[in-house]
Amino acid sequence: MKNLVLVGFMGTGKTAVGQRVAARLGLTFVDTDHLIEQRTGQSIAQIFETQGEPYFRKFERELVRELVARQGHVIATGGGIVLDPNNVRDFARTGVVICLWAEPAVIYERTRYAKHRPLLQETDPRRRIEELLHQRAPLYQAIALRVDTSYTTVEKNVEAVSALYRDQTASAHAGI
Ligand code: S3P
Repeated sequence: MKNLVLVGFMGTGKTAVGQRVAARLGLTFVDTDHLIEQRTGQSIAQIFETQGEPYFRKFERELVRELVARQGHVIATGGGIVLDPNNVRDFARTGVVICLWAEPAVIYERTRYAKHRPLLQETDPRRRIEELLHQRAPLYQAIALRVDTSYTTVEKNVEAVSALYRDQTASAHAGI
């Protein structure tokens, strides 16, 4: 079975949707941030603080290379995974890549009380979200399969992602 890879900005629902999609389709769920925390024994915030973002990105890149060798996984990624185009290219070789999207105001509401995202621990997180989204929008929009999670329920998003995955894997089997 092909992997199902969820990319998208922070707070777009990759983990919440990914876990449920995995359960529904009988696939194994993994989360790149979670794996990085397990392997380093540090939280993402600690890694950013002590080793810096470039170290984190290198770790992420190595993990992608490892995960693309697997099958039948739902992989929820960190929001910045698209910053290295090699990551998206590699994921697309062995998986269906789906981008979750959300409006900046919705992202702000979903992330405002969380403390675990170092990039949003700013005096003006709302503005930071807008800046980062603006910078990254072309990278997210370059992914053909997208689901806007702004104003729907998690269940609807699970339905939409599962349907996209099924369509893609069915057409691959039919040789379309
Ligand atoms: C990041 C997103 C985070 C995490 C790190 C950096 C980003 O993951 O990887 O804080 O650059 O967008 P989530 O998208 O799961 O919050």
